[in-house]
Amino acid sequence: MKKQMLSLLFFSFFVASSYSQLSHNFYQHICPNVESIVRSAVTNKFQQMPVTAPATLRLFFHDCFVRGCDASVILSHANAEKDHHEDLSLAGDGFDTVIKAKAAVDSHPGCRNKVSCADILALATRDVVALTGGPSYNVELGRRDGRISTRKSVQHKLPHANFTLDQLNTMFASHGLSQTDMIALSGAHTLGFSHCNQFSKRIRSKAGIDRTLNRVYALQLRQMCPVNVEPDVVINMDPTPQTFDNAYYKNLQQGKGLFSSDQVLFTDARSRSTVNLFASNNNAFNKAFVTAITKLGRVGVLTGYQGEIRRDCSRVN
Ligand code: HEM
Ligand SMILES: *[C@@H]1O[C@H](CO)[C@@H](O)[C@H](O)[C@H]1NC(C)=O
Repeated sequence: MKKQMLSLLFFSFFVASSYSQLSHNFYQHICPNVESIVRSAVTNKFQQMPVTAPATLRLFFHDCFVRGCDASVILSHANAEKDHHEDLSLAGDGFDTVIKAKAAVDSHPGCRNKVSCADILALATRDVVALTGGPSYNVELGRRDGRISTRKSVQHKLPHANFTLDQLNTMFASHGLSQTDMIALSGAHTLGFSHCNQFSKRIRSKAGIDRTLNRVYALQLRQMCPVNVEPDVVINMDPTPQTFDNAYYKNLQQGKGLFSSDQVLFTDARSRSTVNLFASNNNAFNKAFVTAITKLGRVGVLTGYQGEIRRDCSRVN
């Protein structure tokens, strides 16, 4: 009888996918105050540097889509993920947020080297969303840190600003994310900035202005984005780049999505009704965002004895 129970336990351990081993109270006995420690470190950093919010949120996304949410994007060595050209525009304040929060956690003797950098990034992401006016939510924890980070692994793993709806859906579906999840997560573009080079083809090409782009807005963008200046100018993602709200979707309804991957969500009839819903109902957006970012946080996670708890988030142990 006992033997049967044991083998049943053993069996269920191995059939369960990794993410089902994440839990809200993972650090309850290990480092019970981890959430408040991270929150105050992130709040401090955010108050000094508001760009901490978009930087951290985008960092989490880029981490999860390449080798899973394992903080591999934070590793710093030759030819690491962050050296791929698509990661070069990740703002330094995102990395710094994780380093600072990790230092705060490790300054509590009981917590030292017990909390993964991957979990700290997931918590910091939740905190910046709340700090900018977005929804508050519980974060599943128990991720372990990866030991591998290569520039090559980023190739074909991140969406491009010129993706069609089908390309977006295919990439997000490969991580178990639905079209609704994808549209809700794109709402992260309510925060932060983009370099002009990401959308310059839409405002300056031989074929003229992108027809899906609002003409008045396109002409404004042309003025704000001078040709060939270094460093490239940055433009607000939406009219309220420091506030997490549904202005992003209202903008799409007016043809003011900055990237074609944003605008296509409204232009394509298959996704338009979801954009309209999120534009008219901030609660519906917030709810869908929480569902989607929770699923994003499960992508490819390492748990149990996989990976490690990194002592220094920028280096493997
Ligand atoms: C749906 C496909 C997506 C595409 C094609 C895309 C593409 C981009 C691009 C090209 C930039 C501008 C980078 C720069 O020039 O500095 C950007 C910025 C940003 N993205 Fe996305 N992204 C996508 C989805 C997401 C998701 C799912 C999130 C997070 C959940 C996210 C969060 C952000 C944030 C917060 C910024 C502003 C960064 C800053 O101000 O530092 N994006 N994205
Ligand atoms: C889309 O963008 C990517 C990366 O910026 C670029 O390599 C590619 O040529 C673009 N595709 C089209 C069809 O413009």
